[in-house]
Amino acid sequence: MRKPFVFVTRQVPEESLVALKVVAEVEVWPEEEIPVPRELLLEKAKIASGLYTMLSDKIDEELLNQAPHLKVVANLAVGFDNIDVKTASERGIAVCNTPDVLSDTTADLTFALLMATGRRVVEAVDYVKQGNWKNWAPLLLAGTDIHHKTIGVVGMGRIGSAVAKRATGFDMEILYHNRSRNIEAETKLGASYVGFDELIERSDYIVCLAPLTEETADLFTYEVFQSMKSSAIFINASRGGLVVEEDLIKALSEEIIAGAGLDVYREEPISVDHPLLRFSNVVALPHIGSASDETRHEMASLVSRNIAHVLRGDKPEAIVNEEVFK
Ligand code: DGY
Repeated sequence: MRKPFVFVTRQVPEESLVALKVVAEVEVWPEEEIPVPRELLLEKAKIASGLYTMLSDKIDEELLNQAPHLKVVANLAVGFDNIDVKTASERGIAVCNTPDVLSDTTADLTFALLMATGRRVVEAVDYVKQGNWKNWAPLLLAGTDIHHKTIGVVGMGRIGSAVAKRATGFDMEILYHNRSRNIEAETKLGASYVGFDELIERSDYIVCLAPLTEETADLFTYEVFQSMKSSAIFINASRGGLVVEEDLIKALSEEIIAGAGLDVYREEPISVDHPLLRFSNVVALPHIGSASDETRHEMASLVSRNIAHVLRGDKPEAIVNEEVFK
């Protein structure tokens, strides 16, 4: 009997596909950085039992309607806002992601972004590299402290908690806002649950880690930036869709906030003439939250295992739409 067909939408570590190849005939789009063209993805979806996808692949109703054999879509990411989960569930298609394995790595990067923005690390590196460093000066490239400041975590899930854990090492006061209380973060990390408005007003570092959903889309508007301290630093390591980017640009232009550290944008990738790149107080990264060698290999293996489990008729390790298995 022929094995089910799985299409992998980007080149991934070869060894991570070993488990998958036992149960499936696997085809890999042979590019590491260039996404698979939409037309080809639609073609492959027509014959695929499994899709191994990236956050840049749109798995929408149009695609799902043309995928009669599809049993599983497994994303190489914890976020799954690129997938129409509702339609997938209606069709009995399992949607899988990669939680847990990336929490610490993403928290490391988020904290690095916070520190780099607060202490103006990127500006300082450029200053040296461009030959501008002539003398030591008392306030040369003076940034803002991190220790003993207040961090406000919007989205206290697994990554948010890992960021808060790091903040305890810097003696920071930790505020958080979340859909529901995170009692473990409160008892173990001393985090205080507050309303969104209070978090925005009181925090020195506002760190956005909430997933992109209908409720969180466009959460950070000009009015929200206006409520922040003028010394506040805004960090976004979740999804660009939570921020009204023109409003952030306006807030930075009017010096309503002190800076921003961004790993994500509404449209990715951003081009070199993107208005956010004009600000010296913006640290802009190319969506590398979970990008450590170790973690990306772990994520890739988990995606393969998720698909293999579903194709064998078993419940995968990480499933977004549990209802498909009830
Ligand atoms: C995720 O997994 O959703 C991250 O954004 C990838 O870095």
